[in-house]
Amino acid sequence: MRKDNSLIIVFIVFSSMLTLVACVDDDPIKPVHCENCPSENYPTPYSLKLPPLFASQTAPLNIPADNPLTVEGIALGKKLFFEKRLSINNTISCASCHQPENSFNDRGKSFSLGAIGQPGHINAMPLVNLIYADRFNWDGSAKSLEEQALIPVAHPLEMMEKWVDVAIKIQADPMYVLDFGKAFPNESIDSTTITKALAQFERTLVSGNSPADNYFGAEVGIVPQGRVLTAEEIRGFEVFDDPDRGDCGHCHGGQYNPNWTDYTFRNNGLDLNPDSGLAKVTKKPFDVGKFKVPSLRNLKYTAPYMHDGRFNTLEEVVQFYMDGVEPNSTNISVDMFHRTGANGHTIALTLQEKSDLVAFLKALTDEEFVTNPNFRP
Ligand code: HEC
Ligand code: HEC
Repeated sequence: MRKDNSLIIVFIVFSSMLTLVACVDDDPIKPVHCENCPSENYPTPYSLKLPPLFASQTAPLNIPADNPLTVEGIALGKKLFFEKRLSINNTISCASCHQPENSFNDRGKSFSLGAIGQPGHINAMPLVNLIYADRFNWDGSAKSLEEQALIPVAHPLEMMEKWVDVAIKIQADPMYVLDFGKAFPNESIDSTTITKALAQFERTLVSGNSPADNYFGAEVGIVPQGRVLTAEEIRGFEVFDDPDRGDCGHCHGGQYNPNWTDYTFRNNGLDLNPDSGLAKVTKKPFDVGKFKVPSLRNLKYTAPYMHDGRFNTLEEVVQFYMDGVEPNSTNISVDMFHRTGANGHTIALTLQEKSDLVAFLKALTDEEFVTNPNFRP
């Protein structure tokens, strides 16, 4: 009797050691079995509806061949986006820093707070029209949304969780087993399928109904879905577009680019000795101080501004572009050089032009996007 017991104990200890060893490096492999999900019916292909104005958009849609949009994948991705069990102590989700009501940004904070309340090192980015982008994060460190989603979960300043533990928590929930069974029949619940689902949801975050969209759309015969630009905002756009005044369009696009970014990485002269930026990824000195040119959509909800959240208002941003640009090195974009004062001039705007420009920037805000019930849990 005694002997039997000790054998059982040895067996239990040994098998739990095996489980531990198996879990150290990678996600546990566990195919999803969903009895109620006949796999031939799932998942259901989803066709994303883009705003009519985006037909003029030349950037291709980035949907990887191995992760097409599906009804079940998007629904699962949304659930996971609001899932706090993705963090070490089950306290924060992606949505804690990317709040739908703030254009998926954490408005008001220069640096977001991680799972134990620790401040981060860089300003959180709004998640808007990412389906058009092919590099993510301020320094371009991720090449797809699937790859990007791996980072915040494990990041010591963000969710601080091990992927293997996320997989264990999600696998233990029968509702998720059902959801994964429908979205990814016969695949495992692991970092691959979790990030695939998150990326699918993120690709549906399309914003295209601002007064500026309605105004420029109407010019090409699209029926406006809301108000168009006011006279003040139109004057502001003229300042934005004019190479001798705002000259913003070289990097942030114009009326034929409804995403208001050219998707490049540029050094816009914020500092005399800039942070490494893109150079952290490419290791090229030439890329020091280059950061992702952000979309100017929904700025009303995304203050403070720039990668380190240094400006609290759009007035401060505009003032920076007028007389604050630092001639920081040969890396500064050629489209910024004429503002550095190096040639003895900066860009001077009248008070009226400045306030018109700020009014135009605010008119790139899409109120339908920040209240869209499809983007809420
Ligand atoms: C603690 C706050 C925080 C959490 C939680 C968080 N993020 Fe972020 N997110 C950020 C910050 C900060 C950045 C900018 C990171 C950088 O540039 O290095 C960012 C950047 C991004 C970007 C890049 C956007 C672009 O335009 O390039 C995506 C996409 C993103 N996050 C998705 C997610 C997803 C998905 C989750 C959940 C798995 C998540 N984030 C969780 C703070 C957070
Ligand atoms: C040479 C390219 C370039 C030009 C020209 C340019 N920008 Fe930018 N803009 C950038 C880059 C790059 C960033 C991000 C910089 C960073 O955070 O390090 C940025 C950031 C911004 C932001 C902050 C957005 C956010 O989400 O934090 C605003 C607002 C902005 N620019 C408005 C303007 C306006 C208005 C003009 C014209 C007066 C202008 N930009 C001209 C490249 C440019």
